[in-house]
Parts: sequence; C-alpha cells; structure tokens
Amino acid sequence: MKSVTLVDVSPRDGFQPIKPWISTEDKLEVIRGLVRAGFSRVEAGAFVSPRAVPQMKDAVDIWQEVRDHKDVRFSFLVPNAKGFELAVAAGVREVVYVVSVSEAHNQANVHRSVEDSLAELSRMIELYGGSGVGLRVNLATCFDCPFDGRVPEEAVYRAVETILATGAQPEFGICDTTGRAMPDHVESLCRGLIERFGTERAGWAFHGHDTYGLGVSNALAAYRAGVHVFDVAAAGLGGCPFAPGATGNTAAEDIVFTFENMGIDTGVELSKLLAVADRAASLEGACSGGHIRSLPRARILA
Ligand code: COA
Ligand code: ZN
Repeated sequence: MKSVTLVDVSPRDGFQPIKPWISTEDKLEVIRGLVRAGFSRVEAGAFVSPRAVPQMKDAVDIWQEVRDHKDVRFSFLVPNAKGFELAVAAGVREVVYVVSVSEAHNQANVHRSVEDSLAELSRMIELYGGSGVGLRVNLATCFDCPFDGRVPEEAVYRAVETILATGAQPEFGICDTTGRAMPDHVESLCRGLIERFGTERAGWAFHGHDTYGLGVSNALAAYRAGVHVFDVAAAGLGGCPFAPGATGNTAAEDIVFTFENMGIDTGVELSKLLAVADRAASLEGACSGGHIRSLPRARILA
C-alpha cells in the first residue's frame, strides 16, 4: 500500500499566533491526542525569543513531558544559534531550523539577512553535526513572500545548495508560508528539487498553508512530484505572526481524509483526529480553518 508521513505542527505553527495563554497542560492534552490518533511525528514547540512569540515559552516543559515517548518523533523549531543550543542542552532529539528564502521575510521573522541565517546554520551543523540530533531545515517563503511577492525557484535551489555544501543531510521543509502558491508552482519546484538534489542526501517535506483554499491541492501537487512527508495542523490552526495575511496550516483532517480516500495510508485514525481537532479549535483565541470538520460526521467517516 502507498503511504505518506504526516507531521502535525499544530503545537508549534498552530499555537504560535494564539494570543491568550494556552496552559502547558492544555497543550499537552492536544499533543497526547495527536499521538493517540496515530501521528508518528509532532512539531511540539519552539525555542524562540519569548518576546517574539510568548506562546512558545514553555518549550522545555513540553519537551520534558513528552521526551520518554520514544516511538514518536517530537521536533522543536529554532530560529538562531541560541535556540539551537537551548534545544540541544534540553536533550531535544530533532530541531527545525527556520530560514526564509526571501530577504524581507527573513528580516521580519528573525531580524537578520538570509546570508547570516545560513552562516549561523552552518556553524550549528559544524558544532552538532555529529551529535545525533536530527535536522529539519524549514525553508520559509519558498514560493511567495508577503513583502517581496513571487520567489524565484533559483533562489530556493541556491539555499539548498549552500546548506548541502556543509555536508549535512537534512530534511528540507518546503514552506508555502503565505498559502499563496499555486499547485503548478508547487509541483514544479518540488520536482526540480528532487531532480537536482535527489533523495539520498536530503529528505523533502511540504509545509502548506490553506489561506487561499489551495492547501490540499498543493499537498497533492507535491505528492505527484515525489514528496511523501507533509506538515499539517489539526483544525487548520496556525500562521506565521510575521507574515501579514497568512492564515492556518492545511488542516490535518482534510489531508487525512483526502489521502485515505485515495488509498494512501497516513497512519492516522480520522475519528480520533477529529476529536483532537475539535479540542484544539475550542481553545480560547484559536482561529480554526479546514473544511471537513464542519460536515456531518456520518458523511466523513462512512
Ligand atoms: N530563545 C530564547 N530567547 C532568545 C532566543 C531564543 N532562541 N534568541 C534570542 N533570545 C533572547 C535574547 O537572549 C535576548 O534576551 P534579552 O533581551 O533578555 O537579553 C532577546 O531574545 C533578544 O535577542 P536578540 O538576539 O537581540 O534577537 P532579536 O530581538 O533580534 O530577535 C529572534 C531575533 C530570532 C530571537 C526573534 O526574532 C525570534 O525568536 N523569532 C522567532 C520567530 C518565529 O518563531 N516565527 C514563527 C515561526 S517561522
Ligand atoms: Zn507555517
């Protein structure tokens, strides 16, 4: 049977724009629900400046509670060396280093140039490359920048080339940060990346947002191009606070519904996912999205 791997990023991308404080216990309840639903990978938080994103300040506490769960890959986003070091010091087993392809979004998000972010990543790879810590590199704004508009494919290739030149073999998260990518663009870039760089030295994941209603179409376009790992968020929560106009990640339940009905195994049980998505959507301040959650359950689960 064909299969894909889903990474639920709602505890990070989903919760980061929510203003009212979500207690660590409530965050953990959602994370445990995701694990019960069958997710083998969860992006559980971020080691970022608590002033930039206050909702992520309990990352260490979250990690301490989930770290014994050895059959689930929990990852944490880091924006700089400090975040990388804090995560490694806490014993985190997988980090997600974020750098934007477009200059303006990198400045807005992490207050430095793309070149500086890439140089810092290279230093981190030198320091921790042999430590066994797993590395995902999230390339934000691979398609569209909220400030600069369409991002050329060549710029993405250059960023990947620079990172692979360090000798690291990361998984790349190809991020449509604003949700404005069109499916033909997603297919073309993903195909181009896999053709140029292959699947031996690097892994490929698609991170989509559903701002323009194209989240599922874009995931399918990436799948056609050979991508088998997808970031999703229960209840379609999410959005980068530093990308004006961007809304939630593609809803996990919409993606599970689609792949499973196409005969492609996701490992996730839809009924259990819907329960946790409802819980996540009910958090104070949550701005939920997605489509199938609002339909009669009998029409979805039949
Ligand atoms: N974790 C925790 N604290 C951090 C940190 C990290 N990774 N990086 C920096 N800090 C602290 C510094 O110690 C400093 O604290 P102080 O003022 O108490 O001394 C403060 O944050 C400012 O640090 P500075 O290096 O001057 O960074 P900055 O203010 O230019 O902010 C980032 C840069 C990257 C830290 C900040 O923009 C950030 O965390 N961005 C995250 C963006 C994000 O999560 N976006 C959504 C996901 S894509
Ligand atoms: Zn995102």
